[in-house]
Amino acid sequence: MTMPASPTAADAANWWSTGVSRIEPDVIQYRGYPVQELIGAVSFVDTIWLLVRGDLPTPAQSALLEAALMSGADHGPQAPSIAVARMAITCGIGLNGAMASAVNTLGDVHGGAGQECLGLLHGMQRRVDAGQDRAEVADSIVAGYRERGGFVPGFGHRFHRHDPRRDPLLTLLQEAAGRGEISGDHLANITALESALARRGSKPVPMNIDGATATIYAELGFEPELARGLFVLSRSVGILAHAWEESGSRRRIKGPLPPPMTAPYTGHAERHLPGH
Ligand SMILES: CC(C)(COP(=O)(O)OP(=O)(O)OC[C@H]1O[C@@H](n2cnc3c(N)ncnc32)[C@H](O)[C@@H]1OP(=O)(O)O)[C@@H](O)C(=O)NCCC(=O)NCCS
Repeated sequence: MTMPASPTAADAANWWSTGVSRIEPDVIQYRGYPVQELIGAVSFVDTIWLLVRGDLPTPAQSALLEAALMSGADHGPQAPSIAVARMAITCGIGLNGAMASAVNTLGDVHGGAGQECLGLLHGMQRRVDAGQDRAEVADSIVAGYRERGGFVPGFGHRFHRHDPRRDPLLTLLQEAAGRGEISGDHLANITALESALARRGSKPVPMNIDGATATIYAELGFEPELARGLFVLSRSVGILAHAWEESGSRRRIKGPLPPPMTAPYTGHAERHLPGH
């Protein structure tokens, strides 16, 4: 938007023009729907879809998004995001500060694999659409990661040998594909990748939550960047619950280790300034 040298009040208003919501005195509309019609009729998950995508989801789309958001909501204090929420709330920064601190740990490595996996699935589908064999594409992707010493995003877990969220999410996807509600292309892609990993390695590397939810987001037509944003929404629920529970402990300054325990020092041996 080019701005005239002397912006008018209308220019200033247009600076904030948006297609997401219309807010005027006595008027609140989400993507054109009056909020008073939505309240009691449209769920929170459908509101996420409406605001982010611009229209209401079908019941089938809503059910898959609901399952994806629900399944990533919490992973206990082993997850850095939850641990940070619990530590931060004891520092006197309030729930908003604790939640923001925790959300800021959701980066490329923690919580970011879904975005990377979604990009991978889109790239894989482009190759399949171009006529390449799906299993061969999967093999070449897995081989590429292994040559680079990398990990295929969406597979493996630090301590779940079989992520308990994998099977129910895949079942929902399979059922939706069977009813023709989704294409099933990305479901076929992620399954081919899992098979390729099983063929390559010393032991199977099953799909994790990020792989399963990335498949849902791919089937629902979300862009990769939105996978990260949706995970932030999902995990914020667990972050809030843990920060709130910890705030009830009345603990002041919860460190990463119980107070008698200290981190081993690995630096220079004790030494002294001259004269000491
Ligand atoms: C989570 C993660 C760090 C766990 O790695 P790990 O602790 O090394 O996992 P394991 O000890 O079970 O690995 C066993 C074997 O599978 C391989 N492996 C594990 N995850 C893999 C993956 N995503 N892609 C390729 N190979 C993988 C390991 O390299 C190892 O191979 P080796 O036996 O030949 O040495 C890893 O799986 C990973 O980075 N995954 C991708 C990122 C991701 O999806 N993160 C979200 C987790 S919810």
